[in-house]
Amino acid sequence: MSATKFRKAIASQLSRITSCPESQLLGLLGTPKTALNQQFNIPIPRLKSQRDSVQLSNELAHKFQPDSLIQEASAKGPFLHFSVRPTEYIRQTLLQVYNEQSNYGCHTADKSHIVVLDYSSPNIAKPFHAGHLRSTILGNFVKRIHQAMGYPVIGINYLGDWGKQYGLLAVGFEKYGDKALLEKDPIHHLYDVYVKINSDITEDVDRQANEYFRRMEEGDLTVLEQWKRFRDLSISSYKSIYKRLGIEFERYSGESETEPYIQPLYDLLQSKNLINKTADGAWTVDLSSYDLGSPVVRRADGTSLYLTRDLANLILRQSPKKSMYIVGTEQSLYMQQMFKIAELASLATNMHHVSFGRVQGMSTRKGTVVFLQDILDTAQEQMLKNLKENVTKYNELLTLGIQKGGQRLVGQEAANLVADQLGTSAVIVQDLFANRVKNYSFSYDRMTAARGYTGVYLQYTHARMCAIERKTNTQITTDCDFSLLKEKEAFELALAVSQFPDVVKSSYQSMEPCVVVQYLFKLAHTMGQANSTLRIKDVDPSLAEARMLLLWAARTTLANGLKLIGISPLERI
Ligand code: ARG
Repeated sequence: MSATKFRKAIASQLSRITSCPESQLLGLLGTPKTALNQQFNIPIPRLKSQRDSVQLSNELAHKFQPDSLIQEASAKGPFLHFSVRPTEYIRQTLLQVYNEQSNYGCHTADKSHIVVLDYSSPNIAKPFHAGHLRSTILGNFVKRIHQAMGYPVIGINYLGDWGKQYGLLAVGFEKYGDKALLEKDPIHHLYDVYVKINSDITEDVDRQANEYFRRMEEGDLTVLEQWKRFRDLSISSYKSIYKRLGIEFERYSGESETEPYIQPLYDLLQSKNLINKTADGAWTVDLSSYDLGSPVVRRADGTSLYLTRDLANLILRQSPKKSMYIVGTEQSLYMQQMFKIAELASLATNMHHVSFGRVQGMSTRKGTVVFLQDILDTAQEQMLKNLKENVTKYNELLTLGIQKGGQRLVGQEAANLVADQLGTSAVIVQDLFANRVKNYSFSYDRMTAARGYTGVYLQYTHARMCAIERKTNTQITTDCDFSLLKEKEAFELALAVSQFPDVVKSSYQSMEPCVVVQYLFKLAHTMGQANSTLRIKDVDPSLAEARMLLLWAARTTLANGLKLIGISPLERI
């Protein structure tokens, strides 16, 4: 890695003259700064020497010998600064991007255990609310960043697909169901039916619903067949909506699948002496010594709870070595309880709650009940409207079209696809912009703006670079004269590009997508500056070639970063 190579050069020489271990020094040299005159520094007090830090820093600056990678060491108070040789730094960075291409930024994991991710997880016949939206977008990021770090992952969509409400839904379907509507749009139709039957619930309806669910629990094939149909149709509808977001799950699971594991779970908890039977007959697990209360795992009437099913599901998941649950902050206590019981029962290890804050003001044209499809449709419509405002560009898009999976789309189809991808980019960036735990307010206007901190801006930056690549006759080659890249904008851009592998790592460590997102904005701004200074047209061909490689490397880095957050970069807008 380019930055690593330079860090190593500093650390190994410094280790020789200080007798400090190289690994410790490497740990102190962080991500390269984009500053022009000092890219790395070491705070001397961290070396824990007996000597005065300012004096030692001066002495080390004198002793340090410039070499083929490092140009200078200088002391500033107790800090030791290092500057790299710009041409060599640019060369190493661009060679790395060129060699690694779409893998640039990826790492290899030292351990290769499978990481199980539980995300999105909507409830059948209920709205897909803001929490599900965030879990979906964030979960996709969690998946991709694990992959970028070299871990194999299994993404599970743990559906809310079991419980008394299915009895109610079935009774409702008898009354209000429409087979054709069910086929056409199962998600909306089942929700409509559910709302209708809920509003005219009577004792009789309630009795029928309970009876129906009882038959489901007993494994009655006729009722299960209908339930399975509702579930299958909902899943296939979800699949096509997730596809717009570039999301695919390895598994569709759900609460329904846990039934066979409930009894084995009770047996396990009992064998571990974890069950307390309360006076009224309910079973609890005493977690008070962990400050987590005493959650119920079996009701007095013998039925299971949401918590029971989550725990039983761990048996089905074969006691995963690492799991991430992407669930809102309001469920923190619940998650802690579940993890603790799982740990005490040796059901799983290394469980993490990737939590997130609330979304305010999310609605669609149709009102406040929100479905994922409607959110994406509304964002797409808004983008289409925005695109049409620039008549020339829009007509160009219609005639020239875009490339999609080896195929060329033109006309309205191309415009719709571009608008859809811009719309999803807008939704994703709005969601991942700040720290996860922060709440944010949802705004179509703000998120679809072409300027500011939006996904649309990032897409435009990417597409503009692609246009430059298309229009020039300059080829992308590493066989160019790197010393021609003299301008400060070129050096700054290469430095920004070289930060990406470190950014991926630190975003993984904090599990904060905003680390990547904020980096992408900085990269895009630096690209903008470089683009206006480093002309490619009408300059000497060898200069054009060197500049082209630099811009291409920056564009490739931007594309890799966009993919990491779940956006597919557009080549033409
Ligand atoms: N279906 C749940 C809900 O809508 C989310 C499930 C989260 N995953 C889990 N294993 N508990 O709130």
